[in-house]
Amino acid sequence: MTERVVLAYSGGLDTSVAIPYIAEETGAEVIAVAVDLGQGGEDLEVIRKRALACGAAEAVVTDAKEEFAADFCFPALKANALYMDRYPLVSALSRPLIVKHLAAAAGEYGGTAVAHGCTGKGNDQVRFEAGLAVLNPDLKVIAPARDFAWTRDKAIAFAEEKGLPIDVSSKSPYSIDQNIWGRAVETGFLEDIWNAPIEDLYDYTADPAQPREADEVVITFSAGVPTALDGRALSPYEIIAELNQRAGAQGVGRLDMVEDRLVGIKSREVYEAPAAIALIAAHQELENVTVERDLARFKRGVDQRWSELAYDGLWFSPLMDSLNAFIAEAQKHVSGDIRLTLHGGRAVVTGRRSAASLYDYDLATYDTGDVFDQSLAKGFVELWSLPSKIAAKRDRQVG
Ligand code: ARG
Repeated sequence: MTERVVLAYSGGLDTSVAIPYIAEETGAEVIAVAVDLGQGGEDLEVIRKRALACGAAEAVVTDAKEEFAADFCFPALKANALYMDRYPLVSALSRPLIVKHLAAAAGEYGGTAVAHGCTGKGNDQVRFEAGLAVLNPDLKVIAPARDFAWTRDKAIAFAEEKGLPIDVSSKSPYSIDQNIWGRAVETGFLEDIWNAPIEDLYDYTADPAQPREADEVVITFSAGVPTALDGRALSPYEIIAELNQRAGAQGVGRLDMVEDRLVGIKSREVYEAPAAIALIAAHQELENVTVERDLARFKRGVDQRWSELAYDGLWFSPLMDSLNAFIAEAQKHVSGDIRLTLHGGRAVVTGRRSAASLYDYDLATYDTGDVFDQSLAKGFVELWSLPSKIAAKRDRQVG
């Protein structure tokens, strides 16, 4: 029986060329799988037909928009996930979900191998293959761009030779990856890290410097996840989509950074993630109101570790599972409303209210009605500073 290879298909030049190339090199049939993560752009039915026109034996499109929002973006939100304190893990979150669907398609269509279009220099190859190693270690991996040293010119020449129905002229000079959680742009003139980004790079966000009216939104959370905007109950995907529009229109969520890739390279990345940045700002503030101090302090370390695991391709790992269990417990009381002003490229919290609030007006107030017993503070401060005081005395004596 002819072997079958399941290919992670985007519709772009590289994965389109991969279809006849893999078929030729391995003699296998190619099953192209495109996953809808809310990336927008081309119609997925057009992409599916292109896969068939390039010679795929089967082409499937999977709508994973709600699954991605609820099971990948929202866990990241609960972890306030920002790699290197900035990057909301846009691509990193999508790979484990794509892997899940590739492994499922391999089962369904009798695939014995999985193929992806990643190069050998990036994080995405790691995320694909580390995920597969957990979900189905029997599947072989084919990575033409990496293992057969494909270049853009080679891909174009091959596409022309085979007469593939791809418009090679329209390929942008950038490597772009996008989904509902945000958009990543790299390569081209950005590889000179002194070059400033140009307005042309952006698609999810308007220029934050343009004058416009501010927008205000109230986000309702329940146990750490958003459930409504301005009092309207919405699905996870709908919430992210609406906030991308509204925060994006105010230029919120642009990032330009040099980041540490897992393979050891530092790379320059431009991101835009309006909903992610607005939601994380809101979620962090609701945690400030509802999470007890020591739990909150400890969770910051957990959040950082969570982000690194997700970035490093260890979505499916024992530590990730355990951190998720901790985070779920820590989110029990993270319910309530946050009011945000979206304006001038920033999402600023201007109000919070929660039935699970730990903010106690009577303790906090400097007005009459104060119930905080200030006389207790005197002894507390003395004992608190005692160890350092004794050590300093010793240092003065011993030198
Ligand atoms: N540097 C980011 C990450 O590793 C984005 C990668 C985007 N991928 C791409 N093919 N442009 O998560």
